[in-house]
Amino acid sequence: MVKLHDKTFEPYLSELEIQEIVKEMARKMGVLKDQKPLFIIILKGSFIFASDLVKALDYDVEICFMQLKSYEGTKSSGKIKDIMGIPQQIKGRTLIVLEDIIDTGNTLEYLNKHLLAEQPKKIYYASFLLKSSVYKKTLPIDFVGKEIPNEFVVGYGLDYEELGRTLTQIYKLKIS
Ligand code: IMP
Ligand code: MG
Repeated sequence: MVKLHDKTFEPYLSELEIQEIVKEMARKMGVLKDQKPLFIIILKGSFIFASDLVKALDYDVEICFMQLKSYEGTKSSGKIKDIMGIPQQIKGRTLIVLEDIIDTGNTLEYLNKHLLAEQPKKIYYASFLLKSSVYKKTLPIDFVGKEIPNEFVVGYGLDYEELGRTLTQIYKLKIS
């Protein structure tokens, strides 16, 4: 059990399960090798997942970062804050966007709109976790690590009010 601020979390995904998921995602991304994709890592939540994923790929890639914020506490605020925008020339490039978790999909839609405006060749979306019962957008997510129910989770980069990111396993909110 882990306590962060006022809430208690219980173990949900072990380090071993996490590493299996990451390895499988990297294997599937092997098909994009020849397109020399640029990986766009969405901060802050994706930083640990992304670092494991790029190491698990069997090819070298370019990476860059964007920072967005939509969550307040344990709920999606519905508004996206763009903290760090599109960092470099993406026109004509194949992009792979790395997300930690997709919930409502608001962040993804926002990103998609802004990235498309820069005329990349193709955008692939990858998310370590997907709350499939909550996600109602039409945009397809090309690489999904694991679908989870509508639970609030922390660890492996994911936070609750900025705490919990460095936990090596994933924990879910304990309903008391
Ligand atoms: P969306 O815009 O509702 O899809 O939310 C996506 C963003 O909200 C993610 O990139 C996370 O930063 C955050 N988020 C969504 N669900 C969770 C969760 O269960 N734990 C921690 N952060 C979350
Ligand atoms: Mg977050």
